[in-house]
Amino acid sequence: MKGVHFFGAFLLLALATSFASAYDPSPLQDFCVAINDTKNGVFVNGKFCKDPELVIADDFFLSGFDKPGNTSNAVGSKVTPAFVDQLLGLNTLGVSLVRIDFAPYGGLNPPHTHPRGTEILVVQEGTLYVGFVSSNQDGNRLFTKVLNKGDIFVFPIGLIHFQLNIGETPAVAFSGLSSQNPGTITIATSVFGSKPPIDPDVLTKAFMLDKDVVKYLQSRFWMNN
Ligand SMILES: *[C@@H]1O[C@H](CO)[C@@H](O)[C@H](O)[C@H]1NC(C)=O
Ligand SMILES: *[C@@H]1O[C@H](CO)[C@@H](O)[C@H](O)[C@H]1NC(C)=O
Repeated sequence: MKGVHFFGAFLLLALATSFASAYDPSPLQDFCVAINDTKNGVFVNGKFCKDPELVIADDFFLSGFDKPGNTSNAVGSKVTPAFVDQLLGLNTLGVSLVRIDFAPYGGLNPPHTHPRGTEILVVQEGTLYVGFVSSNQDGNRLFTKVLNKGDIFVFPIGLIHFQLNIGETPAVAFSGLSSQNPGTITIATSVFGSKPPIDPDVLTKAFMLDKDVVKYLQSRFWMNN
């Protein structure tokens, strides 16, 4: 019986590994620092990398994550990314980092998903109410937690999640993501702020709303923090 369990766990792990590789593949060499200019580039797996001979420490370096993001916006939060676009050395390595600042009294990182990355968040300052919702097949269950300084929470890949500052002071969190380029889909922005707009008939029925409400929502300014 133990053997069966072990085999099951092994199979799951193998599946999980092959699933994950559909997003960020394992590297084929120590590093493949991203490069735009192909003059000094080499191909690895069809992608340009900086010539390894020319790679320097600064390719793996980024500073400024001590600086608070500007939360003076409609949702009261700011995400500062260290994705491959900001940190070229992350190319092919399958990880990235963000700093998230929250204004006091309700700064919100609104419901969104990362299509290519699981997120692990740690609170550095403040108190956050966080949560995610499981898929339709799992019954759309809501998992929430109030996090204080030093608390960690995981948002599984692809699932809709959010973070709300419920404290009286600014809050700061840092998140690691399991992709060099996890992508973000902010639900309200994608649905009501698409360009061009989705036919209101679609949203009227999908959200069980009055068409006027849909048109009003579509006329609003939608932002990504
Ligand atoms: C590479 O190109 C992208 C997109 O044009 C740009 O955002 C980025 O800053 C460029 N990186 C470098 C190192 O030139
Ligand atoms: C923060 O953003 C707001 C709105 O865009 C702007 O008015 C303000 O000057 C910014 N503050 C800082 C410190 O950059």
